Order: sequence, then C-alpha cells, then structure tokens
Amino acid sequence: MAEAILDANAIAQWIGRTPEGWLHVLPTVDSTNDYAKMLALQNAPKGTAVLAEQQTNGRGRMGRSFQSPMGQGIYLSYLLRPRCQAEELMDLTCLVAVAVCQAMEETLDFRPGIKWINDLVWGGRKLAGILTEMSLEPGSGLVRYCIVGIGINCSQSRQDFPPELQDIAVSLQTILDRPIHRERLVAAVLLALEKLDNLTPEERRAMMRRYRRDCVTIGKAVRVIRAGESRDGVALDMADDGALVVDFEGTVERVQSGEVSVRGFFGYTDCGENG
Ligand code: BTN
Repeated sequence: MAEAILDANAIAQWIGRTPEGWLHVLPTVDSTNDYAKMLALQNAPKGTAVLAEQQTNGRGRMGRSFQSPMGQGIYLSYLLRPRCQAEELMDLTCLVAVAVCQAMEETLDFRPGIKWINDLVWGGRKLAGILTEMSLEPGSGLVRYCIVGIGINCSQSRQDFPPELQDIAVSLQTILDRPIHRERLVAAVLLALEKLDNLTPEERRAMMRRYRRDCVTIGKAVRVIRAGESRDGVALDMADDGALVVDFEGTVERVQSGEVSVRGFFGYTDCGENG
C-alpha cells in the first residue's frame, strides 16, 4: 500500500501557523539532524523544524543507525538556540523524551515508557529514539545551537523491520491497532518542544519528576557498558541532571554516558546476553 506523504500545510494548520520559513518537509535526506545542522549554520532561527519521509543515513546514539523507511515513521529534527553553557542542558534529552510522551498521550491517548536515557519503549521494545546534538562557541563555551532529533516508528508491521530488529522494535500502529495520524502527532510534538524553550525551574523539575515516573530503567537490573567495560548493577534513581544512579554491588555511581541495557528489554534477558 502506498504511504501518504506528510503534508506541511496540515502540520502547520494543527499548530495554527503557516509552514513558510520554519517547517521543512523533505521526501528523502541522509539525516534530518544533518540537514538541520546545515540550516543552523545558515542562521536559521530557533524553532526551525526538518521532517523527512525517509532517511538514508538516520543516526542514533553511540554511532548506531536509525532505520528510517519511506513513509513509515516520523523523522524530525528541531533547532533550539538556548543562550547557556552545555552543562545546563544535561537534562535536555530527558525533557524531550517527556515532551514526546506528552504529545503521544494528548493525540493518541497512549503513553510509552522511557528507557534511560533516550528510548521510548513499549512491551520491552523500542518505539522511538532521541538524538540530541549541540555545537558550542569556541572560547565562551556557550551553546551556539542544539539539534533535537526524534525518530518514531509509526506504521511498520513486524515484517517491515529488518530481521535483527523484529524482536526489539515496535510501531505505534502495531501497539494501538489503528492507523496513525502523523501530521497531528508531529504538530503536538512541535508544540511540546517549543514549550521547552521557556520552562520555569518548577516546570523543569516537574518534567524530570514525570521522566522518573515513566522511566522503566529505575529499579531494574542493568548492564552498563562504558569504554569497553561491562558491569552489572541496579539502577536506583535518576539525578536532576539526567545521570543514572547505579548501585554496582555496593558501590553507587553516576552514569552519564555509555550503553545501559535493562534486563527484559531489547533482548537482554539474563547475564549472558547483550541488550
Ligand atoms: C537512537 O535511537 O539512539 C536515537 C535515534 C534518533 C533518530 C532520529 S530520526 C530524526 C533524527 N535524524 C537522525 O539522523 N536521527 C534522529
């Protein structure tokens, strides 16, 4: 079945605007994050958004690829220009995850879980991923721009995923058993992202509390892989800056980077398998 093409006018209309000057909908691109970066370097304003029907080099965290088949997902990058130091944005990926969950809840009456730090999940499978990238001003260390990339599996059936992803990925349509109105969801995500620019400290703390509630990692057995070393522990909490607090058999440490597998998710079922 031919997939419908994303309609920029319809998305903008849901938001109450016109698409000119800020909303770029492309048939195909290597990565919407890379395209948004190019626009950022050409002085595109904050709030610029790039969507593509297909990505030929969709990227995820840790150098992974993000499968982005034609017409079956939402591949979105959003430009932010906060005037602050990078350290003040350590929680940005978490805030974006909550914003996307809220948009799904509003438009689909469905709220996924969050696997620390950037995956939205359902039933132990990955539904969406977030890739946040930023550029700093040399010298001052101030953030020059920040690109928030969001990939959501929308209409794939199990067979549409490559064999290695069939047991670890899932789409909204499979979960909800109904077609997904992508324009409406995109509009809700864009509105939720826009709000991130003006959060009060209390709103920010509330979003982090919500992250903890939605986070499927906290309280679970985890395997942390950093610098080639793998360690098993239990995730106790998430700090306000987004670091995962892990108890490694009596030694409690903050985990800010690396790969964290959660037992029961993405094929990590016991100590002998990788998540
Ligand atoms: C991850 O799974 O680690 C994050 C995946 C992020 C994918 C999105 S799709 C839109 C944007 N463009 C990219 O190349 N990546 C992000």
